[in-house]
Amino acid sequence: MAEDEPDVGVPGTRGGPYTGPRAADYTPEPDHSDDPGYMTRTRFLSNAAIAGGGVLTAAIVVPVVGFAVSTPLHSEEFRWVDIGPAGDYLKNAPPYPKPAPSTKIGEVTSLAVSGPSADADRRIFVVYGLKDPSTRPVPTPGEDSAVYEAAFAKWASALSASDFDLVAIWNRCAHLGCPVAYSPGSSGYVCPCHGGAYDSRGLVIGGPPPRPLDRVDIKVVDPRKSFTPEQIAKGDDRVPLAVAAKSGGAGLRVLVGKPYSIDQQQQAFELHSPGEPVSGALSHLYPFT
Ligand code: FES
Repeated sequence: MAEDEPDVGVPGTRGGPYTGPRAADYTPEPDHSDDPGYMTRTRFLSNAAIAGGGVLTAAIVVPVVGFAVSTPLHSEEFRWVDIGPAGDYLKNAPPYPKPAPSTKIGEVTSLAVSGPSADADRRIFVVYGLKDPSTRPVPTPGEDSAVYEAAFAKWASALSASDFDLVAIWNRCAHLGCPVAYSPGSSGYVCPCHGGAYDSRGLVIGGPPPRPLDRVDIKVVDPRKSFTPEQIAKGDDRVPLAVAAKSGGAGLRVLVGKPYSIDQQQQAFELHSPGEPVSGALSHLYPFT
């Protein structure tokens, strides 16, 4: 080929004129956007997003509504249950003849109590012990044992029945409801599920529980005396604990009744569910905390 001739090539071969489809020839596929029955990709993704949002909303709303509805269930049916002679519980009371660090101060009795329904059946720890266990002297590091024993004897000999009280502690963990066990070594309660730890009065000393162990109302009564339901409701039938302890509980009985919750200051509240704080800012944020 001469150098001055144009290269027109041979159609359909390399270097020849373009013979493929052209933009002007393109016919678009129908997108069915005006067909409400046709599931386009956009429509599918929109429906999936709406369904996912609905599931997430339900996951938040359903528990909240459930907790709101369950609130009236907190005040459960109860009845007073006789758990035996007062003398069985008011043991190891002062005065102590020869107080020593080994002297047993207070008593813990574990027992199962049947309520008016299966839901109200529970295990409780009846504790006759110091109102304020922190007053008990503990040896300081390096302290002479004779000095400590003397300090303990002085403290224990000054105790009177008014330093003691009688409480019934429910063994339902305040975190998620596992049954706690009494640990004689630490004079407290431990939860096997997540390591919740409580002191001898059921106050939280470690782990995740948001409040102390719940309690059950307890009273000492004299079965030889009768009272009207109104007097019983006012508490007129209750024998003062110091009086009962002084007599060794002779002829008296111990009854347990309605469960309730407490805070760390041992202030009483309506019975709360496990995991539910009873006071403070977190109690207002529950169940989102
Ligand atoms: S249920 Fe007791 S610590 Fe969790």
